[in-house]
Amino acid sequence: MNLIKLDPARKLGSLDRNVFGGFAEHLGRCIYGGIYDEGSPLADEWGIRQDVLAALRRLRMPVIRYPGGNFASGYCWRDGIGPKDERPARAELAWNTVESNRFGTDEFILFCRQLGAEPYLVVNCGDGSLREAREWVEYCNGEGTSLARLRERNGYPEPYRVKYWGIGNEVDGPWQIGMKTPQEYARVFTEFGKAMKMVDPEIHLIASWTSGWFDDWVERGQLLLEQAGNLVDYMAIHWYVGNREDDFFSYMGLSELFEERLSAAEGFISAMRTCRKIKRPIYLAVDEWNVWYRTGIKENLEEEYNLEDALVVALQLNAFLRHADSVKMANLAQIVNVIAPIVTRSDGLFLQTIFYPFELYSQQARAEVLDVYWEGETFQAGDQPGLRVLDLVGTLDEKAREGTLFVVNRSLKETEARIILQEGEFGEEGQAYIIGAPNIKAKNSFADPEVVKTKKVPLRLSGKEFFYTFAPHSVTGLVFKLR
Ligand code: AHR
Repeated sequence: MNLIKLDPARKLGSLDRNVFGGFAEHLGRCIYGGIYDEGSPLADEWGIRQDVLAALRRLRMPVIRYPGGNFASGYCWRDGIGPKDERPARAELAWNTVESNRFGTDEFILFCRQLGAEPYLVVNCGDGSLREAREWVEYCNGEGTSLARLRERNGYPEPYRVKYWGIGNEVDGPWQIGMKTPQEYARVFTEFGKAMKMVDPEIHLIASWTSGWFDDWVERGQLLLEQAGNLVDYMAIHWYVGNREDDFFSYMGLSELFEERLSAAEGFISAMRTCRKIKRPIYLAVDEWNVWYRTGIKENLEEEYNLEDALVVALQLNAFLRHADSVKMANLAQIVNVIAPIVTRSDGLFLQTIFYPFELYSQQARAEVLDVYWEGETFQAGDQPGLRVLDLVGTLDEKAREGTLFVVNRSLKETEARIILQEGEFGEEGQAYIIGAPNIKAKNSFADPEVVKTKKVPLRLSGKEFFYTFAPHSVTGLVFKLR
Protein backbone atom coordinates (compact mmCIF):
# COMPACT_ATOMS: atom_id res chain seq x y z
CA MET A 1 0.00 0.00 0.00
CA ASN A 2 1.20 3.50 -0.84
CA LEU A 3 0.46 6.58 1.20
CA ILE A 4 0.16 9.94 -0.53
CA LYS A 5 -0.42 13.17 1.40
CA LEU A 6 -1.47 16.39 -0.28
CA ASP A 7 -0.93 19.57 1.67
CA PRO A 8 -2.29 22.68 -0.13
CA ALA A 9 0.09 24.83 1.92
CA ARG A 10 3.28 23.05 0.82
CA LYS A 11 4.21 24.54 -2.54
CA LEU A 12 7.30 23.82 -4.60
CA GLY A 13 6.86 26.74 -7.00
CA SER A 14 4.72 28.34 -9.68
CA LEU A 15 4.33 26.44 -12.88
CA ASP A 16 5.39 28.29 -16.02
CA ARG A 17 3.17 27.02 -18.83
CA ASN A 18 6.13 27.34 -21.19
CA VAL A 19 7.18 23.89 -19.91
CA PHE A 20 4.51 22.66 -22.33
CA GLY A 21 6.37 24.13 -25.30
CA GLY A 22 7.16 22.40 -28.57
CA PHE A 23 9.89 22.37 -31.18
CA ALA A 24 9.64 22.32 -34.98
CA GLU A 25 12.68 21.86 -37.20
CA HIS A 26 13.28 21.80 -40.94
CA LEU A 27 13.93 18.09 -40.78
CA GLY A 28 12.21 15.15 -42.45
CA ARG A 29 8.45 15.73 -42.63
CA CYS A 30 8.10 18.07 -39.67
CA ILE A 31 7.61 21.24 -41.70
CA TYR A 32 6.96 20.02 -45.27
CA GLY A 33 4.16 17.46 -45.20
CA GLY A 34 3.64 18.07 -41.49
CA ILE A 35 2.79 21.61 -40.44
CA TYR A 36 2.90 22.89 -43.99
CA ASP A 37 1.43 21.18 -47.04
CA GLU A 38 0.97 23.51 -49.99
CA GLY A 39 -1.91 22.47 -52.20
CA SER A 40 -3.26 19.89 -49.74
CA PRO A 41 -7.06 19.92 -49.34
CA LEU A 42 -6.33 19.74 -45.60
CA ALA A 43 -4.33 22.98 -45.67
CA ASP A 44 -5.63 26.53 -45.58
CA GLU A 45 -4.84 29.22 -48.17
CA TRP A 46 -1.38 29.72 -46.56
CA GLY A 47 -0.54 26.02 -46.70
CA ILE A 48 -0.96 25.36 -42.95
CA ARG A 49 -2.45 21.91 -42.33
CA GLN A 50 -5.64 22.56 -40.40
CA ASP A 51 -5.96 18.99 -39.10
CA VAL A 52 -2.44 19.26 -37.64
CA LEU A 53 -3.31 22.60 -36.12
CA ALA A 54 -6.46 21.17 -34.51
CA ALA A 55 -4.47 18.28 -32.98
CA LEU A 56 -1.74 20.65 -31.79
CA ARG A 57 -4.32 22.94 -30.20
CA ARG A 58 -5.26 20.06 -27.91
CA LEU A 59 -1.67 20.12 -26.62
CA ARG A 60 -1.95 23.82 -25.70
CA MET A 61 1.68 24.55 -26.45
CA PRO A 62 2.39 28.15 -25.43
CA VAL A 63 5.71 28.43 -27.26
CA ILE A 64 7.31 26.78 -30.31
CA ARG A 65 11.06 26.67 -30.94
CA TYR A 66 12.19 26.98 -34.60
CA PRO A 67 13.91 26.48 -37.14
CA GLY A 68 16.23 23.95 -35.46
CA GLY A 69 17.97 22.06 -34.02
CA ASN A 70 21.01 21.24 -36.07
CA PHE A 71 19.35 22.89 -39.06
CA ALA A 72 19.66 26.29 -37.35
CA SER A 73 23.46 26.15 -37.49
CA GLY A 74 23.52 26.39 -41.31
CA TYR A 75 20.38 28.45 -41.88
CA CYS A 76 20.22 31.88 -43.56
CA TRP A 77 16.93 33.44 -42.53
CA ARG A 78 16.96 35.75 -45.57
CA ASP A 79 16.62 32.70 -47.84
CA GLY A 80 13.20 32.06 -46.32
CA ILE A 81 11.43 35.39 -46.88
CA GLY A 82 9.86 37.15 -49.87
CA PRO A 83 8.08 35.68 -52.91
CA LYS A 84 8.21 31.90 -52.57
CA ASP A 85 9.14 31.15 -56.16
CA GLU A 86 12.15 33.41 -55.89
CA ARG A 87 13.53 31.84 -52.73
CA PRO A 88 16.75 29.86 -53.25
CA ALA A 89 16.91 26.11 -52.78
CA ARG A 90 20.03 25.41 -50.71
CA ALA A 91 22.10 22.40 -49.81
CA GLU A 92 21.16 21.58 -46.23
CA LEU A 93 24.19 20.12 -44.51
CA ALA A 94 22.90 19.15 -41.08
CA TRP A 95 20.51 16.55 -42.48
CA ASN A 96 22.01 16.21 -45.93
CA THR A 97 19.09 17.34 -48.03
CA VAL A 98 17.94 20.30 -50.12
CA GLU A 99 15.99 23.06 -48.40
CA SER A 100 13.44 24.77 -50.64
CA ASN A 101 12.91 27.66 -48.21
CA ARG A 102 9.22 27.83 -49.13
CA PHE A 103 8.48 27.89 -45.41
CA GLY A 104 10.38 30.56 -43.50
CA THR A 105 10.03 33.24 -40.83
CA ASP A 106 6.75 34.77 -41.98
CA GLU A 107 5.07 31.39 -42.45
CA PHE A 108 6.30 30.23 -39.04
CA ILE A 109 4.96 33.34 -37.30
CA LEU A 110 1.64 32.87 -39.08
CA PHE A 111 1.54 29.26 -37.91
CA CYS A 112 2.30 30.35 -34.32
CA ARG A 113 -0.44 32.97 -34.46
CA GLN A 114 -2.93 30.37 -35.70
CA LEU A 115 -1.86 28.02 -32.92
CA GLY A 116 -1.89 30.72 -30.26
CA ALA A 117 1.77 30.09 -29.38
CA GLU A 118 4.75 32.42 -28.92
CA PRO A 119 7.52 31.93 -31.48
CA TYR A 120 11.00 31.11 -30.16
CA LEU A 121 13.66 31.62 -32.82
CA VAL A 122 17.17 30.14 -32.75
CA VAL A 123 19.82 32.21 -34.51
CA ASN A 124 22.64 30.63 -36.44
CA CYS A 125 25.93 30.96 -34.60
CA GLY A 126 27.35 27.92 -36.42
CA ASP A 127 28.22 29.38 -39.81
CA GLY A 128 26.10 32.52 -39.42
CA SER A 129 27.28 35.98 -38.46
CA LEU A 130 26.44 38.37 -35.66
CA ARG A 131 25.09 40.78 -38.26
CA GLU A 132 22.67 38.15 -39.62
CA ALA A 133 21.49 37.43 -36.09
CA ARG A 134 20.84 41.02 -35.13
CA GLU A 135 19.21 41.72 -38.49
CA TRP A 136 16.82 38.82 -37.94
CA VAL A 137 15.74 40.47 -34.68
CA GLU A 138 15.31 43.73 -36.58
CA TYR A 139 13.31 42.07 -39.37
CA CYS A 140 10.97 40.52 -36.81
CA ASN A 141 10.67 43.20 -34.16
CA GLY A 142 11.85 46.45 -35.75
CA GLU A 143 9.90 49.52 -36.72
CA GLY A 144 10.78 52.28 -39.14
CA THR A 145 13.97 50.71 -40.55
CA SER A 146 14.55 49.27 -43.98
CA LEU A 147 14.37 45.72 -42.59
CA ALA A 148 11.06 46.51 -40.91
CA ARG A 149 9.86 47.86 -44.23
CA LEU A 150 11.00 44.67 -45.91
CA ARG A 151 8.74 42.76 -43.49
CA GLU A 152 5.94 45.21 -44.32
CA ARG A 153 6.47 44.63 -48.06
CA ASN A 154 6.26 40.91 -47.40
CA GLY A 155 2.79 41.54 -46.03
CA TYR A 156 3.34 41.99 -42.28
CA PRO A 157 3.17 45.64 -41.20
CA GLU A 158 3.01 44.94 -37.46
CA PRO A 159 6.25 43.99 -35.68
CA TYR A 160 6.17 40.33 -34.68
CA ARG A 161 7.53 41.10 -31.20
CA VAL A 162 9.32 37.77 -31.00
CA LYS A 163 10.25 37.49 -27.35
CA TYR A 164 12.37 34.33 -27.15
CA TRP A 165 15.70 34.09 -28.98
CA GLY A 166 18.16 31.23 -28.70
CA ILE A 167 21.77 31.78 -29.65
CA GLY A 168 22.95 28.60 -31.33
CA ASN A 169 21.96 24.99 -30.98
CA GLU A 170 23.87 22.20 -29.26
CA VAL A 171 27.12 24.10 -29.63
CA ASP A 172 28.84 21.47 -27.45
CA GLY A 173 28.32 18.71 -30.03
CA PRO A 174 30.90 17.68 -32.65
CA TRP A 175 27.93 17.01 -34.97
CA GLN A 176 27.09 20.70 -35.00
CA ILE A 177 28.07 22.98 -37.88
CA GLY A 178 30.37 25.47 -36.15
CA MET A 179 30.68 23.61 -32.84
CA LYS A 180 32.15 25.86 -30.16
CA THR A 181 34.61 25.30 -27.34
CA PRO A 182 33.38 26.58 -23.96
CA GLN A 183 35.56 29.69 -24.38
CA GLU A 184 34.38 30.36 -27.94
CA TYR A 185 30.71 30.02 -27.09
CA ALA A 186 30.88 32.22 -24.00
CA ARG A 187 32.38 34.93 -26.20
CA VAL A 188 29.99 34.40 -29.12
CA PHE A 189 26.95 34.37 -26.82
CA THR A 190 28.08 37.59 -25.15
CA GLU A 191 28.65 39.46 -28.40
CA PHE A 192 25.58 38.12 -30.24
CA GLY A 193 23.41 38.68 -27.18
CA LYS A 194 24.66 42.21 -26.63
CA ALA A 195 23.97 43.24 -30.22
CA MET A 196 20.59 41.48 -30.39
CA LYS A 197 19.52 43.25 -27.20
CA MET A 198 20.67 46.56 -28.67
CA VAL A 199 18.14 46.01 -31.45
CA ASP A 200 15.40 45.01 -29.01
CA PRO A 201 16.09 45.25 -25.27
CA GLU A 202 12.85 43.40 -24.50
CA ILE A 203 13.94 40.06 -25.91
CA HIS A 204 14.76 37.05 -23.71
CA LEU A 205 17.96 35.18 -24.50
CA ILE A 206 18.46 31.45 -24.29
CA ALA A 207 22.02 30.11 -24.12
CA SER A 208 22.95 26.68 -25.44
CA TRP A 209 24.52 24.99 -22.41
CA THR A 210 24.78 21.24 -22.80
CA SER A 211 23.24 18.51 -24.92
CA GLY A 212 25.92 15.83 -24.85
CA TRP A 213 26.46 16.10 -21.08
CA PHE A 214 30.17 15.78 -21.84
CA ASP A 215 32.50 16.49 -18.97
CA ASP A 216 32.92 20.12 -20.02
CA TRP A 217 29.36 21.08 -19.10
CA VAL A 218 30.40 22.68 -15.81
CA GLU A 219 33.13 24.69 -17.51
CA ARG A 220 30.68 25.76 -20.23
CA GLY A 221 28.17 26.94 -17.68
CA GLN A 222 30.78 28.71 -15.61
CA LEU A 223 32.30 30.67 -18.51
CA LEU A 224 28.87 31.60 -19.82
CA LEU A 225 27.61 32.91 -16.53
CA GLU A 226 30.88 34.65 -15.69
CA GLN A 227 30.94 36.48 -19.00
CA ALA A 228 27.25 36.87 -19.79
CA GLY A 229 25.46 36.52 -16.46
CA ASN A 230 23.78 39.86 -17.16
CA LEU A 231 22.47 38.68 -20.55
CA VAL A 232 21.38 35.06 -20.14
CA ASP A 233 17.71 34.54 -19.30
CA TYR A 234 17.63 30.76 -19.78
CA MET A 235 20.33 28.12 -19.82
CA ALA A 236 19.27 25.46 -22.32
CA ILE A 237 19.87 21.78 -21.82
CA HIS A 238 18.78 18.88 -24.04
CA TRP A 239 18.29 15.17 -23.63
CA TYR A 240 16.83 12.23 -25.46
CA VAL A 241 16.29 8.86 -23.81
CA GLY A 242 15.28 5.36 -24.84
CA ASN A 243 14.96 1.71 -23.96
CA ARG A 244 17.77 0.18 -26.00
CA GLU A 245 18.20 -2.74 -23.60
CA ASP A 246 14.47 -3.50 -23.76
CA ASP A 247 14.37 -3.51 -19.95
CA PHE A 248 11.11 -2.00 -18.69
CA PHE A 249 12.32 -1.34 -15.13
CA SER A 250 15.59 0.32 -16.16
CA TYR A 251 13.58 2.42 -18.60
CA MET A 252 11.26 3.50 -15.80
CA GLY A 253 14.33 4.20 -13.64
CA LEU A 254 15.28 7.07 -15.97
CA SER A 255 13.37 9.31 -13.56
CA GLU A 256 16.60 9.31 -11.52
CA LEU A 257 18.61 10.64 -14.45
CA PHE A 258 16.11 13.48 -14.97
CA GLU A 259 16.25 14.33 -11.25
CA GLU A 260 20.02 14.15 -11.19
CA ARG A 261 20.45 16.45 -14.17
CA LEU A 262 17.85 19.00 -13.16
CA SER A 263 19.10 19.14 -9.56
CA ALA A 264 22.71 19.48 -10.70
CA ALA A 265 21.88 22.17 -13.27
CA GLU A 266 19.73 24.24 -10.93
CA GLY A 267 22.27 23.88 -8.11
CA PHE A 268 25.04 24.98 -10.46
CA ILE A 269 23.12 28.08 -11.61
CA SER A 270 22.32 28.96 -8.04
CA ALA A 271 26.00 28.56 -7.04
CA MET A 272 27.10 30.80 -9.91
CA ARG A 273 24.51 33.43 -9.09
CA THR A 274 25.66 33.48 -5.48
CA CYS A 275 29.33 33.54 -6.38
CA ARG A 276 28.99 36.23 -9.05
CA LYS A 277 26.33 38.19 -7.16
CA ILE A 278 23.89 37.91 -10.07
CA LYS A 279 20.61 39.24 -8.76
CA ARG A 280 18.45 38.62 -11.84
CA PRO A 281 16.89 35.17 -12.19
CA ILE A 282 18.40 32.67 -14.64
CA TYR A 283 16.15 29.77 -15.50
CA LEU A 284 16.52 26.38 -17.10
CA ALA A 285 15.02 25.64 -20.52
CA VAL A 286 14.97 21.97 -21.47
CA ASP A 287 14.42 23.08 -25.03
CA GLU A 288 14.72 19.63 -26.60
CA TRP A 289 13.53 16.53 -24.77
CA ASN A 290 11.78 13.30 -25.66
CA VAL A 291 12.18 9.59 -26.23
CA TRP A 292 14.32 8.97 -29.32
CA TYR A 293 16.39 5.86 -29.89
CA ARG A 294 15.02 3.73 -32.71
CA THR A 295 15.34 5.85 -35.82
CA GLY A 296 17.89 7.95 -37.66
CA ILE A 297 17.90 10.19 -40.68
CA LYS A 298 17.29 7.17 -42.95
CA GLU A 299 13.87 6.82 -41.33
CA ASN A 300 13.40 10.61 -41.15
CA LEU A 301 13.38 10.20 -37.35
CA GLU A 302 9.82 8.86 -37.61
CA GLU A 303 9.84 7.09 -34.28
CA GLU A 304 6.82 4.87 -33.53
CA TYR A 305 5.93 5.27 -29.88
CA ASN A 306 4.44 2.66 -27.58
CA LEU A 307 2.82 2.79 -24.14
CA GLU A 308 6.07 2.55 -22.18
CA ASP A 309 7.37 5.59 -24.09
CA ALA A 310 4.22 7.45 -23.02
CA LEU A 311 5.08 6.61 -19.39
CA VAL A 312 8.59 7.97 -19.88
CA VAL A 313 7.19 11.18 -21.39
CA ALA A 314 5.06 11.53 -18.25
CA LEU A 315 8.12 10.88 -16.05
CA GLN A 316 9.89 13.76 -17.79
CA LEU A 317 6.89 16.06 -17.27
CA ASN A 318 6.75 15.03 -13.59
CA ALA A 319 10.42 15.99 -13.25
CA PHE A 320 9.90 19.39 -14.93
CA LEU A 321 6.96 20.10 -12.63
CA ARG A 322 8.85 19.05 -9.50
CA HIS A 323 11.53 21.55 -10.55
CA ALA A 324 8.97 24.22 -11.40
CA ASP A 325 10.99 26.83 -9.57
CA SER A 326 13.88 26.59 -12.01
CA VAL A 327 12.56 24.89 -15.17
CA LYS A 328 10.63 27.68 -16.83
CA MET A 329 10.58 26.33 -20.36
CA ALA A 330 10.68 22.90 -21.99
CA ASN A 331 10.11 22.02 -25.64
CA LEU A 332 8.93 18.61 -26.71
CA ALA A 333 11.10 17.60 -29.67
CA GLN A 334 9.42 17.60 -32.02
CA ILE A 335 5.78 18.33 -32.80
CA VAL A 336 4.84 16.59 -36.07
CA ASN A 337 6.17 13.44 -37.78
CA VAL A 338 9.79 13.78 -36.58
CA ILE A 339 10.02 12.08 -33.13
CA ALA A 340 6.55 13.45 -32.64
CA PRO A 341 3.16 12.96 -31.01
CA ILE A 342 1.35 13.52 -34.34
CA VAL A 343 1.89 11.54 -37.54
CA THR A 344 0.48 12.74 -40.85
CA ARG A 345 -0.08 11.41 -44.32
CA SER A 346 -1.70 13.23 -47.23
CA ASP A 347 -5.24 12.30 -46.16
CA GLY A 348 -5.07 12.69 -42.39
CA LEU A 349 -3.19 11.99 -39.19
CA PHE A 350 -3.12 9.83 -36.09
CA LEU A 351 -2.03 10.53 -32.55
CA GLN A 352 0.85 8.56 -31.08
CA THR A 353 0.85 7.24 -27.51
CA ILE A 354 3.01 10.13 -26.28
CA PHE A 355 0.37 12.62 -27.39
CA TYR A 356 -1.87 11.62 -24.50
CA PRO A 357 0.31 12.27 -21.42
CA PHE A 358 1.38 15.58 -22.92
CA GLU A 359 -2.25 16.56 -23.53
CA LEU A 360 -3.25 15.43 -20.03
CA TYR A 361 -0.54 17.42 -18.26
CA SER A 362 -0.90 20.48 -20.44
CA GLN A 363 -4.67 20.58 -19.99
CA GLN A 364 -4.91 19.56 -16.35
CA ALA A 365 -1.85 21.02 -14.60
CA ARG A 366 -2.75 23.89 -12.31
CA ALA A 367 -0.77 27.03 -11.48
CA GLU A 368 1.11 25.94 -8.34
CA VAL A 369 3.14 22.78 -7.89
CA LEU A 370 2.72 20.92 -4.59
CA ASP A 371 5.36 19.11 -2.59
CA VAL A 372 3.54 15.78 -2.35
CA TYR A 373 4.41 13.36 0.46
CA TRP A 374 4.74 9.71 -0.49
CA GLU A 375 5.72 6.45 1.21
CA GLY A 376 5.24 2.89 0.03
CA GLU A 377 6.33 0.29 -2.50
CA THR A 378 9.66 0.45 -4.30
CA PHE A 379 11.34 -1.38 -7.17
CA GLN A 380 14.84 -2.00 -8.49
CA ALA A 381 15.95 -0.54 -11.84
CA GLY A 382 19.21 -2.14 -13.00
CA ASP A 383 21.56 -1.55 -10.10
CA GLN A 384 19.41 1.17 -8.53
CA PRO A 385 17.29 -0.16 -5.66
CA GLY A 386 14.57 1.70 -3.76
CA LEU A 387 12.82 3.58 -6.59
CA ARG A 388 9.26 4.47 -5.79
CA VAL A 389 6.74 2.53 -7.83
CA LEU A 390 4.53 5.60 -8.08
CA ASP A 391 6.30 8.60 -9.61
CA LEU A 392 4.13 11.60 -8.83
CA VAL A 393 3.57 15.31 -8.67
CA GLY A 394 0.65 17.48 -7.58
CA THR A 395 -0.64 20.86 -8.75
CA LEU A 396 -3.17 23.25 -7.29
CA ASP A 397 -5.21 26.27 -8.29
CA GLU A 398 -6.00 27.85 -4.95
CA LYS A 399 -8.53 30.34 -6.31
CA ALA A 400 -10.49 27.76 -8.26
CA ARG A 401 -10.02 25.35 -5.33
CA GLU A 402 -9.03 22.47 -7.51
CA GLY A 403 -5.95 20.43 -8.11
CA THR A 404 -4.44 17.48 -9.94
CA LEU A 405 -2.35 14.57 -8.81
CA PHE A 406 -0.32 13.08 -11.68
CA VAL A 407 0.89 9.53 -11.10
CA VAL A 408 2.95 7.17 -13.22
CA ASN A 409 2.48 3.61 -12.01
CA ARG A 410 5.75 1.85 -12.84
CA SER A 411 4.54 -1.55 -11.76
CA LEU A 412 3.32 -4.25 -14.13
CA LYS A 413 0.48 -4.77 -11.63
CA GLU A 414 -2.30 -2.66 -10.18
CA THR A 415 -1.04 -0.43 -7.37
CA GLU A 416 -3.17 0.80 -4.51
CA ALA A 417 -2.78 4.10 -2.71
CA ARG A 418 -4.43 5.90 0.18
CA ILE A 419 -4.60 9.59 -0.67
CA ILE A 420 -4.96 11.99 2.24
CA LEU A 421 -5.70 15.71 2.14
CA GLN A 422 -3.91 17.33 5.07
CA GLU A 423 -5.97 20.52 5.26
CA GLY A 424 -9.68 20.74 4.41
CA GLU A 425 -11.86 18.20 2.60
CA PHE A 426 -12.28 16.93 -0.93
CA GLY A 427 -15.21 18.25 -2.96
CA GLU A 428 -17.56 15.65 -4.38
CA GLU A 429 -16.85 15.84 -8.09
CA GLY A 430 -13.56 14.55 -9.36
CA GLN A 431 -12.22 12.97 -12.54
CA ALA A 432 -9.64 10.33 -13.25
CA TYR A 433 -7.85 10.51 -16.61
CA ILE A 434 -6.16 7.19 -17.30
CA ILE A 435 -3.67 6.31 -20.04
CA GLY A 436 -3.01 2.60 -20.14
CA ALA A 437 -3.42 -0.63 -22.12
CA PRO A 438 -2.94 -4.32 -21.40
CA ASN A 439 0.31 -4.43 -23.39
CA ILE A 440 3.20 -2.06 -22.55
CA LYS A 441 4.34 -2.27 -26.17
CA ALA A 442 0.92 -1.18 -27.48
CA LYS A 443 1.08 1.45 -30.24
CA ASN A 444 -1.30 3.51 -32.30
CA SER A 445 -1.20 3.53 -36.10
CA PHE A 446 -3.27 4.63 -39.09
CA ALA A 447 -4.83 1.16 -39.13
CA ASP A 448 -5.55 1.11 -35.39
CA PRO A 449 -5.39 4.71 -34.12
CA GLU A 450 -6.94 4.32 -30.67
CA VAL A 451 -5.18 1.41 -29.00
CA VAL A 452 -3.74 3.81 -26.45
CA LYS A 453 -5.68 6.92 -25.51
CA THR A 454 -6.97 8.72 -22.42
CA LYS A 455 -10.00 7.33 -20.63
CA LYS A 456 -11.99 9.71 -18.47
CA VAL A 457 -13.75 8.26 -15.43
CA PRO A 458 -15.76 10.26 -12.88
CA LEU A 459 -14.56 10.13 -9.26
CA ARG A 460 -16.86 10.48 -6.25
CA LEU A 461 -14.89 11.95 -3.36
CA SER A 462 -15.70 13.22 0.11
CA GLY A 463 -14.01 13.84 3.44
CA LYS A 464 -10.28 13.88 3.92
CA GLU A 465 -9.14 10.77 2.09
CA PHE A 466 -9.84 8.18 -0.56
CA PHE A 467 -8.34 4.97 -1.88
CA TYR A 468 -7.38 4.66 -5.53
CA THR A 469 -6.07 1.71 -7.52
CA PHE A 470 -3.72 2.72 -10.32
CA ALA A 471 -3.90 0.56 -13.44
CA PRO A 472 -0.76 -1.47 -14.31
CA HIS A 473 1.94 0.52 -16.16
CA SER A 474 -0.21 3.59 -16.58
CA VAL A 475 -0.30 7.37 -16.37
CA THR A 476 -3.15 8.82 -14.30
CA GLY A 477 -4.29 12.36 -13.61
CA LEU A 478 -6.65 12.63 -10.64
CA VAL A 479 -8.46 15.95 -10.77
CA PHE A 480 -10.03 16.91 -7.44
CA LYS A 481 -11.89 19.84 -5.93
CA LEU A 482 -11.33 21.32 -2.51
CA ARG A 483 -14.50 21.92 -0.54
O1 AHR B 1 15.54 16.92 -32.71
C1 AHR B 1 16.45 16.31 -33.57
C2 AHR B 1 17.89 16.82 -33.35
O2 AHR B 1 18.33 16.42 -32.09
C3 AHR B 1 18.06 18.31 -33.34
O3 AHR B 1 18.23 18.84 -34.61
C4 AHR B 1 19.32 18.49 -32.56
O4 AHR B 1 19.37 19.71 -31.87
C5 AHR B 1 19.34 17.29 -31.64
O5 AHR B 1 20.56 16.64 -31.66
